[in-house]
Amino acid sequence: MKGNGIRKFEKAMNETLTTIHQRRSVRKFKQVPPNKDIIEDLLNAGRSAPSAINKQPWRFYVITNTALITSMAKEIEAVAEGQFQLSHGVHLSRTEDAVFHGAPVVVFISAPKDNEWAELDVGMCAQNMMLAAKSLGLDSCPVGFGRFVEKTKCYSLLNVPASERIVVSLVFGYGDEQPKEHPRRRDNVVYVL
Ligand SMILES: Cc1cc2nc3c(=O)[nH]c(=O)nc-3n(C[C@H](O)[C@H](O)[C@H](O)COP(=O)(O)O)c2cc1C
Repeated sequence: MKGNGIRKFEKAMNETLTTIHQRRSVRKFKQVPPNKDIIEDLLNAGRSAPSAINKQPWRFYVITNTALITSMAKEIEAVAEGQFQLSHGVHLSRTEDAVFHGAPVVVFISAPKDNEWAELDVGMCAQNMMLAAKSLGLDSCPVGFGRFVEKTKCYSLLNVPASERIVVSLVFGYGDEQPKEHPRRRDNVVYVL
């Protein structure tokens, strides 16, 4: 058994744990587009996620065109009405784009409608991508409201097959804020035996 001191030191030096604990949902970005290699690194991290019976059900739709991101955000805002303000406390007055938070990269992830495990698979894939982003000096935010894209006119631009649905969207970029961690609940463990 290692002494407490050594174990604390090892934990502090562990890059994976550090990345996990430092990731935050960021909602303000510098207008510096990440290059294509970085976007590929994020996609590869997503592709490395586990998936039920190795179906790898995800499909990625990457948007880096700022004008398109802005117009998608406006359309989503219109179809989602006031709902998202309530859900994550972002006020429309604070940012022009309360959906994608002005991020330079938006990734929608779709999966087949008939795969009952796909949401879980995509969740793991998304977390891999967000942790990869953090480890490469970028920030991210999962945007569940991106799902509303299905109800917008822009949706046809994505060419999502009719057999698939959008599970989530993620935004990436170089963060321009450092949010504090929300306190984590600790009353949610049962040590059985
Ligand atoms: C499935 C899911 C959907 C989310 N949707 C949104 C969203 O639409 N907009 C947003 O700004 N944040 C969204 N978030 C981010 C959460 O608000 C955030 O993860 C939570 O407040 C904890 O903060 P942290 O990510 O910094 O730890 C979403 C998170 C998850 C997991």
